Amino acid sequence: MSTVPLLELQHLSGGYEPVQIFRDVDLVIAHGTSTGLFGPNGHGKTTLLRTVSGVIDPWSGNILFEGKQLNRPGERGRRRSRNLNYDVFTRRRMNPKNVARAGLIHVAQGNLLYRELTVRETLGIAPIAARGRGEPGDLTEKALRLFPRLSERMNQKVRFLSGGERQMLSVACGLIAAPRLLILDEPTLGLSPKLRRELADAIQAIKADGVPLIIVDQDVDFLKSLIETLYLFDHGRISGRIERADMPSHEEIMRMLFGEVHS
Ligand SMILES: Nc1ncnc2c1ncn2[C@@H]1O[C@H](COP(=O)(O)OP(=O)(O)OP(=O)(O)O)[C@@H](O)[C@H]1O
Ligand SMILES: [Mg+2]
Repeated sequence: MSTVPLLELQHLSGGYEPVQIFRDVDLVIAHGTSTGLFGPNGHGKTTLLRTVSGVIDPWSGNILFEGKQLNRPGERGRRRSRNLNYDVFTRRRMNPKNVARAGLIHVAQGNLLYRELTVRETLGIAPIAARGRGEPGDLTEKALRLFPRLSERMNQKVRFLSGGERQMLSVACGLIAAPRLLILDEPTLGLSPKLRRELADAIQAIKADGVPLIIVDQDVDFLKSLIETLYLFDHGRISGRIERADMPSHEEIMRMLFGEVHS
């Protein structure tokens, strides 16, 4: 196996100008391993992941995917407009299209889907990111086997789907993009226990099929069933790294992050 990590973040810092959200993040993910990210609400987990996939630009540091640098190094250009779209055409240091083409696929928190498209149309777009890495037909079939509920809703518009179905559709799109690394940001947030279990089983199956994950979730026991390494994220910094063999209970982790927890 190659000794080059699957993903490496070196001293990565970023945020929403002028507010810095995370700083000096060092993280290494080996091939074939899955990683969890756990931390309090609003401390910057989503912002970090959006930076890794090029939705927003890093301020400093490097992002290496399979040994290849994804960000353009150098001084950060001063933003000339508050309009994100304007920035896309000026001094972007990262191109999210290249990130997806490399196989780093990001399923965003709160499923960002097109409300007016049908399930079929949405699943039809997903293979664009998979170009050269997988057979769209096979991948779509696999996703529908994992989420049979979606097969029954093929002609329904996204805006008529339940929260759980939207979440399933988002993860299905991630899978159809033939990920070499799949980022799942709070995939089970707000779901009923039954839907949560359904989605958790599907994510287990994706992992068992050999897709490495970066997964954010508020349930440490759920994370523990999926990952080899857990990073604790606190006030925009990595505050701890725990390997599977030493994985503590949910309560112990809460104590590590917040000190004594009084009930
Ligand atoms: N588009 C944005 N512009 C400016 N600030 C933002 C934007 N999105 C998020 N923030 C701020 O960045 C900080 C970190 O938010 P982020 O969503 O990254 O945290 P998180 O750890 O993912 O939280 P959660 O667990 O609730 O998902 C918060 O203070 C938030 O208000
Ligand atoms: Mg978040």
